Amino acid sequence: MIKIAPSILASDFAKLGEEAAKMQAAGADMLHIDVMDGHFVPNITLGAPVVKSLRKHTGMPFDIHLMISDPEKYIPDFYAAGASSITFHLEAVEEPAKIIRQIKSLGLPAAVSIKPKTPAEAVFPYLDEVFMVLVMTVEPGFGGQSFMRDMLPKIEKIRTELNRRGLDSYIQVDGGIDAVTAKEVVKAGADVLVAGSYLFGCPDPKTAIADMKALGSV
Ligand code: DX5
Ligand code: ZN
Repeated sequence: MIKIAPSILASDFAKLGEEAAKMQAAGADMLHIDVMDGHFVPNITLGAPVVKSLRKHTGMPFDIHLMISDPEKYIPDFYAAGASSITFHLEAVEEPAKIIRQIKSLGLPAAVSIKPKTPAEAVFPYLDEVFMVLVMTVEPGFGGQSFMRDMLPKIEKIRTELNRRGLDSYIQVDGGIDAVTAKEVVKAGADVLVAGSYLFGCPDPKTAIADMKALGSV
């Protein structure tokens, strides 16, 4: 089963509630919320107060992607704001196992993400503890960048290792995903597709989402 997570980074921030409703009506499984701090990545987006406001307008699962330093300081705020799962970057912390425990102790599923230059093996020590691994297919920080095709072997490597351990955890991909690249990442073993500019920019997100989901059954 392929799951689709539109990234609100590509939406109109002045009407987040409507944008979320549009994607829910189009068949999206969750909303991907990009949190950037201007420190871990060279851009600033939104924080827990915005997530809290948006929570009042939609029941959609919130897939929180933290691209921030010191995520442990802010995880409780995102939990309280209505997060459904929390992903943090391995490169941002010294003790990933501690952060995973923190997220799980709040009753939320925890996921780890790696930037393009971080090798697949970096997540191996945590595979038994997370429900999802996010493989960045662009340098985190901005929407609308080109898909990095050389990330495909990384996805394959992680899927192979998950299979070897008998785990059916999700592999999420994020960055430059559209109708063409979706096919490639699904073939490599990804099953949660984040798409920002593609879904918010296309005239018929319903068909686009249905087509991407159908990749899981070919
Ligand atoms: C980038 C973010 C992405 C971004 C993807 O750092 O993590 O979620 O919104 O945007 P597109 O799909 O436009 O590449
Ligand atoms: Zn993201």
